[in-house]
Amino acid sequence: MRKNGIIIAIDGPVGSGKSSTAKRVAERLGFLHLNTGAMYRAFALLVRRRDHGGHDPERLHQLISEAQIGFSDTGKILLDGVDVSREIQEPDIALLASELSTNPEVRAKLVEKQREIGKDGGVVLEGRDIGTVVFPDAELKIFLVADQLVRAERRMLEYDNLGTHIPLNELANQIAERDKRDRERAISPLVQAEDAVVVDTTNLTFEGQVKRVLELAQARLGITQDLALTTLAH
Ligand code: DC
Repeated sequence: MRKNGIIIAIDGPVGSGKSSTAKRVAERLGFLHLNTGAMYRAFALLVRRRDHGGHDPERLHQLISEAQIGFSDTGKILLDGVDVSREIQEPDIALLASELSTNPEVRAKLVEKQREIGKDGGVVLEGRDIGTVVFPDAELKIFLVADQLVRAERRMLEYDNLGTHIPLNELANQIAERDKRDRERAISPLVQAEDAVVVDTTNLTFEGQVKRVLELAQARLGITQDLALTTLAH
């Protein structure tokens, strides 16, 4: 057992429910939540701010070496010490993050940081390569999936709540583009780890998906207390 508990790895495509589920599961277990996608997005924001477009490998190498990406005590993503959680939500930052995440040096630097943060356990990490590359020895691996249209609808609601309306078909196209690149890239593609448990969230409510992951975590932790039921009460 690691110092602070088990490692829970949650991977899956865009809009499968990773972030919201990982956050709530971490809260319920008193674990740290590490949103690795936010780190790729923060780097994309840095690149966009500095370069406004073009980015050759040498320049990316320089930028990733200098990048100060981390989290505040309350879990907010920080770029050069400043909370950028709002800026990284923009759709073009998501697309740029997906593009830049194909670069091996960018991945190496961010993966190193993720391992450093998560190594003592007691953490829920979510992303694309957590169970396969970042922590292949994670005690619990979840692969979240959901129907593509449902994922686009979820994203649309999220953006609406942020005050930006994006038509459903536009979001569906963006999701398809990102999924394709994330799945087909040469290094650390989005792929289900052999020992991952697949959770299809298409027909699950948010509470339902949290409950399912907590049940699996509970089985790994060997706790008798019914965390899942406690969650539903909150
Ligand atoms: O989880 P997200 O949608 O915020 O991630 C944004 C992009 O970052 C995603 O399209 C691919 C990349 N990413 C990655 O390559 N590996 C991760 N572990 C997390 C995200």
